[in-house]
Amino acid sequence: MRIVKQFAGLGSFCWGMFFLLCSNAGMAQTASLKSSIERGKTVYVQRCMVCHQQDGGGVPHLNPPLDGASAVKGKDKSKLISILLKGMSDRVEIDGEYYSNNMASHADLSDQQIADVLNYIRNNWSNKVPTPVTPAEVKSVRAKTK
Ligand code: HEC
Repeated sequence: MRIVKQFAGLGSFCWGMFFLLCSNAGMAQTASLKSSIERGKTVYVQRCMVCHQQDGGGVPHLNPPLDGASAVKGKDKSKLISILLKGMSDRVEIDGEYYSNNMASHADLSDQQIADVLNYIRNNWSNKVPTPVTPAEVKSVRAKTK
């Protein structure tokens, strides 16, 4: 009987450790997304705000809004990364509107900076996308873009 009890004790200890590790991993990811967003704000202010504006609302007919934009909130991270790497000048419809300005390439930003600014625009204003963009993803899109 004693042995059984000891095993049961060991079992719940293991589960305890397991949950502790899992929740720590989750918290670590939340914390790293949070600091990425903070760094991304600096990049945004320096490189994007002039066109997309502080409130993310853009400028009608000139620069598209990022707040509420389906491409920004969408699942296709590679597409977003490649817009930053290549810029965007094709006159395509964006959420029912056309914009006449051109966006230059921002490929001179590091993989980390691009991930950070994308995490910022995906988690600012009304946008809330908990899935982070990582520098590794930027690196792989960059390799394919060249
Ligand atoms: C010179 C002005 C300008 C700057 C600076 C600029 N953009 Fe843009 N951006 C645009 C324009 C104009 C478009 C749309 C181009 C088109 O319609 O072809 C666009 C498109 C986008 C899109 C796609 C939007 C959608 O809904 O499909 C994203 C995302 C984006 N920009 C993010 C950024 C980020 C992040 C930065 C800073 C690193 C930045 N832009 C800097 C003008 C700018």
